[in-house]
Amino acid sequence: MLDETTIAEMLGQHYDLAPSLEAAERLADVYASMSRVVSPADWAIHAPYVEAINKLKKERNAVILAHNYMTAQIYHGIADVVGDSLQLAIEATRVKADVIVQCGVHFMAETSKILSPEKTVLMPDMDAGCSLAESITPEGIAEMRRRYPGAPVVTYVNTSAAVKAASDICCTSSNAAQIVAALDAETVIMTPDKYLAQNVAKQVPQKNIVWYDGSCIVHERFTAAELRDFRSWQPDTRIIAHPECPPDVVAEADFSGSTAGIIDYVTREQPQKAMLVTECSMASNISDALPGIEFVGPCNMCPYMKMITLEKVLWSLHSMEGAVEVDASVAEEARRAVQRMIDLSKRAAA
Ligand code: 13P
Ligand code: SF4
Repeated sequence: MLDETTIAEMLGQHYDLAPSLEAAERLADVYASMSRVVSPADWAIHAPYVEAINKLKKERNAVILAHNYMTAQIYHGIADVVGDSLQLAIEATRVKADVIVQCGVHFMAETSKILSPEKTVLMPDMDAGCSLAESITPEGIAEMRRRYPGAPVVTYVNTSAAVKAASDICCTSSNAAQIVAALDAETVIMTPDKYLAQNVAKQVPQKNIVWYDGSCIVHERFTAAELRDFRSWQPDTRIIAHPECPPDVVAEADFSGSTAGIIDYVTREQPQKAMLVTECSMASNISDALPGIEFVGPCNMCPYMKMITLEKVLWSLHSMEGAVEVDASVAEEARRAVQRMIDLSKRAAA
């Protein structure tokens, strides 16, 4: 991938990307959805990119799938679909387009490619990885199978295609408990997130859940003491934690769920104050739609998610560089594990 200076120079030859109050004004309706978190001055910087991307998207017959952790200018400015990992995986099977631009991390783009092999799936920055995905290889799955013979392997979608292919079924944070409960086995192997596994073990006590030693560098940094301190300082705060947090952190929370589950919860409950124990962009992205809620407390930034910028998205659509490829035989096996998860989730939701 080219460095950012070269990308900026190349883009400058084709687009007028100078900060523009006129472009900001033309896109005033788009800005309305993020005006609490993006300043007018910053919007004048982003607006020319948003305009160029949305125009190019039509020319390329492309759709942008964006995870809930994207910055507000991506989430509100250019995304066609936003959601958690499960929603984005399902949407990848539905979208009618020649090109998917994945605003998220690499495993999400791979999942889209596995489910839509005929489409071009572009990743604006191939280095946008994930500590969980990097923690395990197919050999790690084989080792777990050797230690627990006959136990099915449930693998978090935050993994490479090769690891998915070596697993029996995938899960996301929104369906992990459902998937584990539905398996016809007493012992279930969960990989690679030990904290998600430990949180699921509490929800599904009838199963003997064993886990791999992976974790998310964003969620593992929250501590139960930090939440307790915050609650004693501001007792009227509703605390909501992602299940990638350690179990003692989740135990301090009023609710735990996937990023989509968190959005549903605060939208439904409308607490006066909410602390989202997850990636920082979550609260920013929903704060304009929920003006009655004051979002408070600490949040941690995912360095991988934040590698995706408007500039890189424009470059990928312009150059069509950064197409994700998955070996056909690996993709076939990985598709089986992901599709099993999607089918089971849909059946459970019906
Ligand atoms: P969900 O959006 O599925 O809750 O996942 C969070 C996450 O960390 C994705 O990388
Ligand atoms: Fe991976 Fe954690 Fe970043 Fe999600 S937040 S992409 S799990 S490192």
